[in-house]
Amino acid sequence: MRVGLQCRHLLVLLGLLLPLPAAAQDAVIAIDAAQPGPVLAPEIQGQFAEHLGRLIYEGIWVGEKSPIPNIRGYRKDVVEALKAIRVPLIRWPGGCFADEYHWRDGIGPRDKRPVGVNTNWGGVEESNQFGTHEFMEFSELVGARTYVNGNVGTGSAREMAQWVEYLTSPSRSTLAQERRANGRDKPWTLDWFAIGNETWGCGGNMRPEYYTDQLRQIRTFIKPAPGQPTRILASGANAGDVKWTEAVMAGAGDMIDAYSLHFYDITSAYTLPAGTWEKKGSATEFTSAEWFASMVGAYRMDDLVTRHSAVMNKYDPAKRVALAVDEWGNWFDPTPGSNPGFLEQQNTVRDAVTAAINLNIFHKHADRVRMANIAQMVNVLQALILTDGARMLLTPTYHVFDMYKDFQGATSLPVQTIAPDLVEGGRRVPGVSASAARTKDGRILVALANTHPDRALPAEMRLAGASLAKATGRMLTGPAINSHNSFITPAQVTPVDLTGIVLNGDRVTFTLPARSVTVLSLDATAASGGKE
Ligand code: AHR
Repeated sequence: MRVGLQCRHLLVLLGLLLPLPAAAQDAVIAIDAAQPGPVLAPEIQGQFAEHLGRLIYEGIWVGEKSPIPNIRGYRKDVVEALKAIRVPLIRWPGGCFADEYHWRDGIGPRDKRPVGVNTNWGGVEESNQFGTHEFMEFSELVGARTYVNGNVGTGSAREMAQWVEYLTSPSRSTLAQERRANGRDKPWTLDWFAIGNETWGCGGNMRPEYYTDQLRQIRTFIKPAPGQPTRILASGANAGDVKWTEAVMAGAGDMIDAYSLHFYDITSAYTLPAGTWEKKGSATEFTSAEWFASMVGAYRMDDLVTRHSAVMNKYDPAKRVALAVDEWGNWFDPTPGSNPGFLEQQNTVRDAVTAAINLNIFHKHADRVRMANIAQMVNVLQALILTDGARMLLTPTYHVFDMYKDFQGATSLPVQTIAPDLVEGGRRVPGVSASAARTKDGRILVALANTHPDRALPAEMRLAGASLAKATGRMLTGPAINSHNSFITPAQVTPVDLTGIVLNGDRVTFTLPARSVTVLSLDATAASGGKE
């Protein structure tokens, strides 16, 4: 059994957890509705869209003349699916692609745009048909905030400064007039601008001190037009590299609004013999040991966020600077037969459970983590959507984001769990990952992932600080650990209503199916008599 320490109000919650679960309830989840925590930034459910493989071209952009139904060139099915989950933020154009992207290649008449080579991803031609106007218009269509990633690797301060002017200036400057001539009169809203991507790697192989100096210099010249909400993000650490965080926060922490962290869960990093980037593990053909390894990797996010936050706390105790986990997710071997440079992979129930673990971790650290962008949106890595020509399917990860969407902007609540650990080869991870929040319309949401691949957990939820009136739930699982949606069976893994929920005073009992993600929605009245 494991008690997860997830709150400041341990005593109340420990009281709720006693007595320890009887045999009838394997898992106990305690929530204190009277102790609200930080608001969950909607951007925690952000997404990453890079010029990589079939993400932009085919996944989003098919062009106005395509037989695939489209809205001014953007595929209609994908836009509608993204609107349905209220995507709060889109990061573009990369990733490593951003480190070689020159924005002027992607403006003006499409038939006159230069054709480049995507040197990072398969060496394919980059037509530049999707550029600045297309990204900003796509974000407006979806209703998402905009995150543009500047090029430090091969760009310049001048190039980035001019891009920001082109995007945001209401003036009659030559650049603003050029934007108008290209079809956009009003400035766009630029919510985030990043100074570099992975500058420790594909973004220039820099040392942290060198990047920090670059950041200070370039930041000086990034001047969004007055009234713009633009916040500035620094290229941050790879996984556990806290020295990078130390250098950037010490040298430029006062000049940025967010600091990024990238972490990919590579199954083979936790299986024996130790894996490598060359052999990460299959997305669909995997053992229960590899299932376990993926859970270990997902929970590692908690440790990484904790360690980077500790460094940030030294330089920014008021938590003004957000930690933006702007690339995260599972990275498996490419789908057999696909272009290995396109990073295409299927998406199973395992991805759903690890997505829920990650989102719960971000909720737990919501005071610092105020952005997280899953990699990536369509057809790449842990994609939410897969396309095949005119066909589209929603992955298990998409359904998790759908189930979690009401957490956006909700107020987190302390949650404590007791549940049997998942054990494999002498190692263990928590059997249940949980988070809770109160929505603006007064409901209490409780998200629960059962990491056991083959054990259902009878569960009891105990609520302090509110009286329960009603409980409903949605649940996602599949018949096997590798269940997934294909173009032949696109609804193999789809959320259903959770049945068997029993309400009894301040307690709710239900069963968490094996390998599942559940979100409960509770109508509750505040203990004082008001609506919670
Ligand atoms: O998401 C794929 C790649 O992973 C991104 O381009 C890069 O930033 C990271 O290494």
